[in-house]
Amino acid sequence: MNPNPELGPALQSLIARADRALGEVLPADDHPPIELHRAMRYAVLGGGKRLRPLLVYAAGHALGIDGPRLDAPACAVELIHAYSLVHDDLPAMDDDAMRRGRPTCHVVFGEAMAILAGDALQALAFEILAHDPHAAAAPARCVDMLRVLGRACGAEGMAGGQALDLAAVGRRLGLAELEHMHACKTGALIRTAVRLGALASGADDAALDALDRYAYAVGLAFQVRDDILDVEGESAVIGKTAGKDAAADKPTFPSIIGLEASHTRLAELTGDALGAIAPFGARGSLLEELAHYAAHRRH
Ligand code: IPE
Ligand code: IPE
Ligand code: MG
Ligand code: MG
Ligand code: MG
Repeated sequence: MNPNPELGPALQSLIARADRALGEVLPADDHPPIELHRAMRYAVLGGGKRLRPLLVYAAGHALGIDGPRLDAPACAVELIHAYSLVHDDLPAMDDDAMRRGRPTCHVVFGEAMAILAGDALQALAFEILAHDPHAAAAPARCVDMLRVLGRACGAEGMAGGQALDLAAVGRRLGLAELEHMHACKTGALIRTAVRLGALASGADDAALDALDRYAYAVGLAFQVRDDILDVEGESAVIGKTAGKDAAADKPTFPSIIGLEASHTRLAELTGDALGAIAPFGARGSLLEELAHYAAHRRH
């Protein structure tokens, strides 16, 4: 159980669902290589807001599909996310010692094991998506989902965004460059969470388009909020070291446009997200809640 008082009961129970499913797909830590399996479980379980699995379930909910059909894509996106955090925290990248309120994976298991845990989590994500019993009934759709996830992780998505982030240290990016970097490093996987939920639910092109506009705005808003929390948050609440971006001279929304304009941009993005899902009416309620959460969360 991983309660989050900032979310309502429906989303809280979906967090519990995702936690359970993740616990089942991860390798047990009582068989070899034990240290690697422990590092993988440590990186994924026992914390995390589970925003990406929640977006998979919420997109399915908007299309009338619930639970079991969505567990594999929900786990796959969270495994990729957890791997990205393990590598993001390494000394060669952000060199962070605290994550989800605990010591980072490499602090506990060493750098080599953290690198391997990240590698193995990424591979496991593709394996479980390819193995999904629900996908067997629709192989073309399964291949499409694997392709979408691959693109989101790669040079055009998260890894590319992380490279832009590292190259930007100490530089003063323009706003368009900053938004592009954020859209890649964080937005790509968030968009993919929504897209996988939609594909698993058999969405048509109009629904895919609307959901993609929603997800673009939520993905960007989520990273704008992350930048703001790095300035305004406290380490004990956000579960990671506050003030790290300024200390590392990273370009962020607050450093480039200031805090007030960052809050204004958040409000605009939330408006864009809500506008995009208006056609779903009441079925979009979980997506709506998540759009507000992404922009206003306190950790
Ligand atoms: C942190 O992601 C890294 C970003 C992409 C901003 P989250 O804030 O979703 O991290 P967890 O999963 O809740 O720990
Ligand atoms: C992380 O961005 C993005 C990815 C892990 C892909 P940050 O470096 O801002 O995330 P935090 O602040 O360490 O969680
Ligand atoms: Mg980083
Ligand atoms: Mg970081
Ligand atoms: Mg950050």
